Amino acid sequence: MNTASANETYNYKVVRQFAIMTVVWGIVGMAVGVLIAAQLVWPDLNTQYPWFHFGRLRPLHTNAVIFAFGGSALFATSYYAVQRTTQARLFSDGLAAFTFWGWQLVILLAAITLPLGITSAKEYAELEWPIDILIAVVWVSYAIVFFGTIMKRKMKHIYVANWFFGAFIITVAVLHIGNSLAVPVHFAKSYSIYPGAIDAMIQWWYGHNAVGFFLTAGFLGIMYYFVPKQAERPVYSYRLSIVHFWALISIYIWAGPHHLHYSALPNWAQSAGMVMSLVLLAPSWGGMINGMMTLSGAWHKLRTDPVLRFLVVSLSFYGMSTFEGPMMSIKTVNALSHNTDWTIGHVHSGALGWVAMVSIGALYHLIPRLYGLTAMYSSNLVNIHFWLSTIGTVLYIASMWVNGIMQGLMWRAVNADGTLTYSFVEALNASYPGYMVRALGGFIFLAGMFLMAYNVYKTITQKEAVAIDGVAQTA
Ligand code: HEM
Ligand code: HEM
Repeated sequence: MNTASANETYNYKVVRQFAIMTVVWGIVGMAVGVLIAAQLVWPDLNTQYPWFHFGRLRPLHTNAVIFAFGGSALFATSYYAVQRTTQARLFSDGLAAFTFWGWQLVILLAAITLPLGITSAKEYAELEWPIDILIAVVWVSYAIVFFGTIMKRKMKHIYVANWFFGAFIITVAVLHIGNSLAVPVHFAKSYSIYPGAIDAMIQWWYGHNAVGFFLTAGFLGIMYYFVPKQAERPVYSYRLSIVHFWALISIYIWAGPHHLHYSALPNWAQSAGMVMSLVLLAPSWGGMINGMMTLSGAWHKLRTDPVLRFLVVSLSFYGMSTFEGPMMSIKTVNALSHNTDWTIGHVHSGALGWVAMVSIGALYHLIPRLYGLTAMYSSNLVNIHFWLSTIGTVLYIASMWVNGIMQGLMWRAVNADGTLTYSFVEALNASYPGYMVRALGGFIFLAGMFLMAYNVYKTITQKEAVAIDGVAQTA
């Protein structure tokens, strides 16, 4: 199908809008990440203004990278993939446009309220109740657009990527509404309806499944559509993809208590969470292997195709973080890792290595096609970006592993008389070199994002130049 007729058949406008905002929010969110990483190295960067303090900018970073960057990537890719695989235009152009503007408004409100210190104090669900309501409305509209398009499909079959996107959309709606139930005190303050330990359990049921469904299932949808497309090979095993889907969604939902080891949560619930987390290794690796093996017979393409490299390396990081996660959920291991930088390392091997790299790879496939081209303006720049991302991620996670294990060991070291061997400040001082390396890794990753923005800009304007040239020639 040529571009003109693809544009008439499909709604690419909203896909383009979300794709471009993914790059913009990626830069903003990661720039805040680099800033807070630098604040941990040079505490003086916490100026006299409270809005720029680490404590306020940290949730701004997590919200910007997860919901603004990751969310826009998921909207763009799911709207694209669902149209291509159902051969149907989006269910409603108006509602799709509402999801775009509504989501940008949510992000803007987050960017204003979080630095002001307006927060519900629930991690990854910090936004206050009026914004929560807006999120719920946008999300339900997203579900209507997505499932409405599935209903309009031209064939009986529903491609597996849509199963993952669908599960992500439904579960995030349930999690968000369930965890955000609160009693408002005034416009900018509310209290959770859940008491004490139950509140903690509900929060980490949400928090862990935000990882499982927002940062995993949705991005697996991206994997199942974009890896076969870029490799020009069918999914390695369709049967495995179905087993992968059902196993993943039925196990993830039980693993939340591993965030609450040695807490007021009943011991049996902690152990159940640990066991479910260990079982989770199997479907996670099943999916990773399915993605990797899709390259069977196409491995040679890795030598020349940097976009494919992004996708494949993201799968390796996915494999790494889903091996590490189950290990960290073992109570004795968690006794060492909890509250240390090891957790931060684990988070970013998933967040930078998997989520960001798979999104970047998918965008490099998607953006030229949205503008009627077959490749980005410069494949060389994509290649340089690939190396910057990989080196940045490795520096980030390796420094946090070293820091984390060192901190865990220093905190628990005791002298013969039972007193602590090291004070907290000694452990903090020992962490500085690691913080430096992490900030450098983050900076390198961010530099790659700027290259991407330039490449995207040139790709889009090049398309316009071709179009203008074409018109000129016809005239
Ligand atoms: C340039 C890239 C990035 C840098 C420099 C960076 C830096 C940081 C820093 C310094 C923290 C606070 C760590 C602490 O409190 O000790 C943090 C937390 C976090 N970041 Fe990033 N980050 C980056 C990219 C990302 C991306 C792309 C994502 C998600 C897709 C992400 C997700 C998170 C999450 C979830 C946390 C909270 C972790 C926790 O509470 O355990 N980050 N980041
Ligand atoms: C089989 C899969 C996984 C398991 C079993 C798992 C397990 C864990 C465990 C045990 C912790 C530490 C909890 C603590 O001590 O407080 C943790 C933290 C975390 N993991 Fe994973 N993980 C998995 C995959 C992932 C992936 C793929 C990502 C990102 C894309 C991710 C993101 C996070 C985040 C953001 C946190 C920090 C939560 C917080 O305290 O703020 N995890 N995970």
